[in-house]
Amino acid sequence: MSDPIDRLLDAAESGKSIIKNRDILHFTYIPKIILHRDSEQEQVAQSLLPILKQSRPSNLLVYGKPGTGKTLVVKKVLSKIQERVEKSKFPIKLVYSNSKEETTLYGLLVSFGRQLSLNEKELPTTGLAISEVFKRILKKIDEGKLNAIFVIDEIDYLAQLVSKTGKDILYQLTRANERLEYGSLTLVGISNDLTFKEKLDPRVISSLGEEEVVFTNYNVEQIKKILQERINESFLEDTVEEPALNLCAALAGGEHGDARRAIDLLRVAGELAERQQSDKVTIEHVREATQKIEENKEETSLKSYPLHEKLVVLAIMKANGSSTGEIYSSYKSLCKIIRQDELTQRRITQMLSEIELSGIINGRLIHQGIHGRTKKYKLTISSEMIKKSFKDDLTLQDII
Ligand SMILES: Nc1ncnc2c1ncn2[C@@H]1O[C@H](COP(=O)(O)OP(=O)(O)OP(=O)(O)O)[C@@H](O)[C@H]1O
Ligand SMILES: [Mg+2]
Repeated sequence: MSDPIDRLLDAAESGKSIIKNRDILHFTYIPKIILHRDSEQEQVAQSLLPILKQSRPSNLLVYGKPGTGKTLVVKKVLSKIQERVEKSKFPIKLVYSNSKEETTLYGLLVSFGRQLSLNEKELPTTGLAISEVFKRILKKIDEGKLNAIFVIDEIDYLAQLVSKTGKDILYQLTRANERLEYGSLTLVGISNDLTFKEKLDPRVISSLGEEEVVFTNYNVEQIKKILQERINESFLEDTVEEPALNLCAALAGGEHGDARRAIDLLRVAGELAERQQSDKVTIEHVREATQKIEENKEETSLKSYPLHEKLVVLAIMKANGSSTGEIYSSYKSLCKIIRQDELTQRRITQMLSEIELSGIINGRLIHQGIHGRTKKYKLTISSEMIKKSFKDDLTLQDII
């Protein structure tokens, strides 16, 4: 019997490799050609053009469903402007930040500050009042007579995390020019949540949305062309079968034309094909890939549950198809095993509804005549999946 590790390493060394450049399939890769987005590229560029003449562009709001190329297009326009700025020595600063990656408004502002080369001493990572952070950023712009563009990607996350003062800062940020003697500040907000306007202060929206660019959905045919282009760059010739390509495009294009999902599917299918030492990506690999991506999503979401949510899921697993009362008893006995104080039945009932929203469990109202009604819950995923997701949680060891 050969060693299992050696066997894998041997296969990797001698084995077939059908992906010639993996990085090209990564979501941060900026493709050379952006297909089907000429008009959007023009609109974004047009809107930011004034900066090259050292005047202030209007604030801009970019909208569109997930995976429609918003981040890609904005980054590409910025990098093109940057190229010219470097030649010209204009005091122009282009700054990009993603609010999903920054967990606070403070973090987001510091990220902007750092990109304007404010150091730790001029702008500490913690400890200042938000308004002070903001003031120091404006001072830097003013003193350097900078023309700055701040891009806030996934700005809808910001809407969720800002407090009342945060909302005010956001408003001030959009109106910063009124406070600047020299230099200028333009904001570009990107959002895939078409309803986020309702979550933000209407004053913020009106000043942020001085200009708007809407990204329309890709259709299946367009997704297919995008995939084809990516395949040419990242896979060896003739290694992705036509039906596999078609299925990727159909699956991702069916709903609203999500290019990210299409490229993810392609990457995972390619990896599965390589792992199975196949010399082509087939329609079967794409089917397996959809399943794998779906499972990964569930696993990641289960792993991120707080302890008592996990206990509730385990309680349902032990008493599948039970009523709220039975689940609560089962939950209480689990708490005993791992010596945790139990929460009230009211809280657990509320938690069940929250978990139901995530789709991991399914509830059904049962009428019991004179006894009123109760809700019975069932898992929609396998208990293997749950065990696999929770196995690294040390607190749960005695249960699993
Ligand atoms: N027209 C296109 N040509 C080539 N690749 C594209 C095109 N549009 C999108 N992509 C690719 O699809 C993926 C998703 O695009 P992008 O990140 O720009 O989406 P997005 O609109 O910002 O989505 P989200 O709202 O979820 O952030 C990226 O890998 C990007 O390179
Ligand atoms: Mg994006």
